[in-house]
Amino acid sequence: MNFYCMSLFPDIIKSGFEASITGRAVEKGLLSLTNVNIRDFSPDKKHFKVDDYPYGGGAGLVMKADCVFDAYEYTRDTISRYWGCSEAGNRTRVVYMTPRGETFSQKKAAELAKERDLIILCGHYEGIDERVLEEIVTDNISIGDYVLTGGELAALVVMDAVSRFVPGVLGNDESAYTDSFGDGLLEYPQYTRPEVFRGKQVPEVLLSGHHANVEKWRYEQKLEITKRMRPDLYERYTKG
Ligand code: ADE
Repeated sequence: MNFYCMSLFPDIIKSGFEASITGRAVEKGLLSLTNVNIRDFSPDKKHFKVDDYPYGGGAGLVMKADCVFDAYEYTRDTISRYWGCSEAGNRTRVVYMTPRGETFSQKKAAELAKERDLIILCGHYEGIDERVLEEIVTDNISIGDYVLTGGELAALVVMDAVSRFVPGVLGNDESAYTDSFGDGLLEYPQYTRPEVFRGKQVPEVLLSGHHANVEKWRYEQKLEITKRMRPDLYERYTKG
């Protein structure tokens, strides 16, 4: 899976993505990250301005359509050149990180993971000129009902969750589909050594070696935890 991230702060994206599990997957060639700095596409070659005052007045600055569009064309053409196919770039989905988008979910992560390439667009300031968004964006995604200073942290959340579905990224390919939310329930509790911690014993059934009983116990725990912590998910699960 190849991520192309258009933003004003590529360092945030690089340091977040190239650490830990996703970083290892980059080294293995399972994932790639290409950062495109929108500032490089400013027509203002002196101050590299990428924003301007909003028409109609109001607080803050708006990212200019021309810089974002030129950065997009560059990204699109890079993808086309890579695959030696002029349509490859045109077909690539463009995900815009915005609080007004559809709320991100495990289902959306699994859907996006089916793409070969993905362009992610991060805004800053008071947003991006609407006209360029209308031209290039295919998916608007929010990571929750709150406002961040920019889309970079949200992009990292999406890239991380999508990467977990890419075959080989996790030690065990099954886990992205079987962990929390995969079946609509939260995960069961996990324990490791020591057997007793501050007087608390690991549940007896996990030491029994009886596989069927362990499975049954874990399923019951999933139900119990989901009912207690996320009654909305529990309701959906039990009512179908
Ligand atoms: N940019 C700013 N806030 C955001 C949010 N909640 N989700 C996605 N992108 C954002």
